[in-house]
Amino acid sequence: MTIHTVATAPIAGQKPGTSGLRKKTSVFMERHYLENFVQSIFDVVGVEGKTFVLGGDGRYFNDRAAQVILRMAAANGAARVIVGQGAILSTPAASHLIRLNKTDGGIVMSASHNPGGPNEDFGVKFNMPNGGPAPESVTKIIFERTKAIKEYRIMDAQDIDLGRVGRASLGGMIVDVIDPVADYVTLMESLFDFGAIRAMFASGFRMRMDSMCAVTGPYAVEILERRLGAAAGTVVNGTPLPDFGGVHPDPNPTWAKELMDEMFGSDAPDFGAASDGDGDRNMVVGAGVYVSPSDSLALLAANAHLAPGYAKGLAGVARSMPTSTAVDRVAKVLGIGSYETPTGWKFFGNLLDVGRVTLCGEESFGTGSDHVREKDGLWAVLLWLNILAVKKMSVAAILAEHWARFGRNYYSRHDFEAVASDKADRMMVALRESLAGLKRQVVEGMTVSGADDFVYIDPVDGSVSTKQGVRVMFSDGSRFIVRLSGTGTEGATLRLYLERYEAGPLGLDRDPQEALAPVIRAAHAITRITEFTGREMPDVVT
Ligand code: G1P
Ligand code: ZN
Repeated sequence: MTIHTVATAPIAGQKPGTSGLRKKTSVFMERHYLENFVQSIFDVVGVEGKTFVLGGDGRYFNDRAAQVILRMAAANGAARVIVGQGAILSTPAASHLIRLNKTDGGIVMSASHNPGGPNEDFGVKFNMPNGGPAPESVTKIIFERTKAIKEYRIMDAQDIDLGRVGRASLGGMIVDVIDPVADYVTLMESLFDFGAIRAMFASGFRMRMDSMCAVTGPYAVEILERRLGAAAGTVVNGTPLPDFGGVHPDPNPTWAKELMDEMFGSDAPDFGAASDGDGDRNMVVGAGVYVSPSDSLALLAANAHLAPGYAKGLAGVARSMPTSTAVDRVAKVLGIGSYETPTGWKFFGNLLDVGRVTLCGEESFGTGSDHVREKDGLWAVLLWLNILAVKKMSVAAILAEHWARFGRNYYSRHDFEAVASDKADRMMVALRESLAGLKRQVVEGMTVSGADDFVYIDPVDGSVSTKQGVRVMFSDGSRFIVRLSGTGTEGATLRLYLERYEAGPLGLDRDPQEALAPVIRAAHAITRITEFTGREMPDVVT
C-alpha cells in the first residue's frame, strides 16, 4: 500500500478549546482541514510504533473521519488502533479503553452536546495515555503545529470494514474493531451493586433514560434493560443518529424537555436521566423533582460509600470553580479535601492521577470519578440507582434529607448565546477593570465582599491558569461568576453563574430563580450585560 506525503498549508483557526477542536462539520470537511489537525496531533504526540484508541459519538462525518484517521495513523507508522465497531465509542468508554489497554492515547470524534449534521458541529479531541483530555500544555503545542504544518501522511487504501468486530490490518498497522460496550459494562459491574439495582427494578421501580439519539443508547440498553432488568422501553431515543434526530443532544431541562414533561407528569416514573452526544454528561430527575448538577455532585459525594466501588470512602472531591459550593460542605463534614479548579474536565486529571480526589464534577451536567479520566454520564446514573436501591427512598426524599443536613445552595446558570464576540470581549474588559473598585460597594441591596479573576495553580504540577472567570462574592455568601464559553462555535457564549446559600431545612420547594433574584439583579447591574450586548434575558437557563 502506498503512503502519500501530501503537501499542505496551515489553516487559520485550528485552535483546540476546552475539549479539543470543534467547528462546523462543513469546515471539518473542507480540503485538508481534518488531515491538517490530525497530522498536527500526530506530529506532537508521536505515532511510530504506538497504539491508539479511536471512536466517536456517531454524528455525521464520524464514519468518514474515522477512515481518514486510520489511514493517517497507518501512514505515520502506528502499530495498532483499537476502534469501536461502527467507529462508535462514548467518551468515557474511550477513556476506559485507553487505560485498560495501556495505550498511548486516543482520538475521540465528537462535539459533545452540540448538534450534529452536515450543517451542525463536528469535533476532534486527543486524549492522553491516562485517558484524560490533553492538557493545555499539549493543546498549545498542537495549535502551534497547525500554524506550521507543511505536509501530512496518508495511506492509499480501501476502507476498513468497521461494521464487523475483529482484527484487520492497514499496511503494517493492526486495526482491532471491538464491541464498544463490553469493556465499559464490565467496569460498571465492578463499581456498582448490580444485584441490588436488579432487585429494585424487579420490585417495580420505574425509570426513563433518554439517550437523546446519541451515543449512550447501546450502552444504556445493554446495562439498564439487559443486565439490570429494567422494563423494555426504559431507554428512549436509544439509537444513535448522525443528526441526533435534529435535536440538541444536551441533557438539561431545556433540551431534554420531553423527559422533564414526563417526570413532572401525573404518571411519572421513579427516576429519570438523560445524557449527551458523546455520553459524558448526565441530567437526573426524580418524580416531580429536578436535581441540579451541583446538588447531584454533593449528594453523590455524601452517599458514594453505599456503592461497592467507593465503600472505602472518598480521598477527596473536586469541582469546577463556577459549580456550586454544595459539595464543599459535604467534604467538610466528611473530613476530606475539596478542590476548586477552572472549568473543563482536564483540570481534574492531575488530582485524580495522584489520588487526591475520587469524585469530581461540574455544574454543566458533568460528574465522574477516578474510574476513568472523563466525566461519565451513565456512571452517574448508575451511582444514583445504587444509592436509591440501598436507601429505598424517593429522589425527592433523598434531596430533602440532604438539604436538611447540609443546607441548600440555590444555583442557576444563565447563558447568553451567539453574542457578537467584540461586544462580549468589551464587556469582559470593562468588568475586569472594575473589579478593584467593587469591594464593599452595595449593589441592589447586596454588599460585595470580594471580586477577582480566578487563577488556578495546579497543586500537582504547579502550572498556572489565569483569567478563568470573573467572580464576585457578597457578604451573605452569595456569588456570581461570569466567563466566556470555550466550546461555542458561533460568536461568543456568555455564561453567568449564580449562587445563594440558605442553611437549614427551609424553603425546600422554593424556585431557585426566585431565591436568586437579588443576586441576578446585582449581577446585571455590575456586569452591564444589557448595555454591552443588548441582551436582557438569557437564552438558556439551567
Ligand atoms: C462547557 C462547560 C464545561 C465543560 C465543557 C465540556 O464549556 O461549561 O463545564 O467542561 O463544556 O463539556 P464552556 O463552553 O463553558 O467553555
Ligand atoms: Zn459531552
